[in-house]
Amino acid sequence: MTPDHGELLYEGKAKRVFASDQRDRVLVEFKNDATAFNALKRAELDDKGRLNCQISARLFEMLERNGVPTHYLGLAGETWMVVQPVKVIPIEVVIRNVATGSLCKQTPIPAGTELSPPLLDLYYKDDSLGDPLLTESRLELLGLINPEQRLEIEQLARSVNGWLLPFFESLDLLLVDFKLELGVNSSGKLLVADEISPDTCRLWDQRNSDPKARILDKDRFRQDLGGVIEAYGEILKRVQGVCANPYNCK
Ligand code: TMP
Ligand code: ASP
Repeated sequence: MTPDHGELLYEGKAKRVFASDQRDRVLVEFKNDATAFNALKRAELDDKGRLNCQISARLFEMLERNGVPTHYLGLAGETWMVVQPVKVIPIEVVIRNVATGSLCKQTPIPAGTELSPPLLDLYYKDDSLGDPLLTESRLELLGLINPEQRLEIEQLARSVNGWLLPFFESLDLLLVDFKLELGVNSSGKLLVADEISPDTCRLWDQRNSDPKARILDKDRFRQDLGGVIEAYGEILKRVQGVCANPYNCK
């Protein structure tokens, strides 16, 4: 089902954003396109858009229920979400609870090391530059955010981790790490934007000790492990078990 929508405002790798008939709402369509390594690897995965939309909706609702501000307003179809329009800050915030991925490629920290407190890194959001890791001085040089905004961004991202980690734990899922994008709405309020899904989180099945079989996220696609959609479906099944009916927006 496609809801009534206005003009296409923006098209990203995994989503399209459309105007709606209300100025304070935009419609996001989740696509089946999968990309990795800054879009060097691409595929179309049937049903991925629906799974990520439905998982994200429930995670945003859980965060909202706990007082974490997000852009989420509701669902408008199986692959459609209604959100507040925001100016996206071109910074990707990555929080890591367990060392893996690029951290272990770039540092001698052994894979699997528990990171306490969780490691928070900021990356400059630009595929053509390969989303480079930002240093304190580069952040200052770029002038994208001031020190107060940086503090606010880091506090918000850590509070998201503080809610997501035990939520997934209760579903026997280990939130290894994840990426957040943040935006500012028309009132100047900082909100969690984009999506929170197996495309943007590493989630390991705690019911399975096999290092490959336990992977239930986009690493299955990145590493050509197969079973991507089945893994995302398992995440939705567990999340739905505790959040059955997300609210729908008219
Ligand atoms: P990394 O280990 O490759 O740096 O990834 C850290 C986390 O961020 C992992 O959960 C995957 C997520 N991520 C994205 O969502 N988008 C990206 O472009 C990258 C590089 C990572
Ligand atoms: N999101 C990035 C891309 O689409 C990288 C990744 O997730 O691995 O290329």
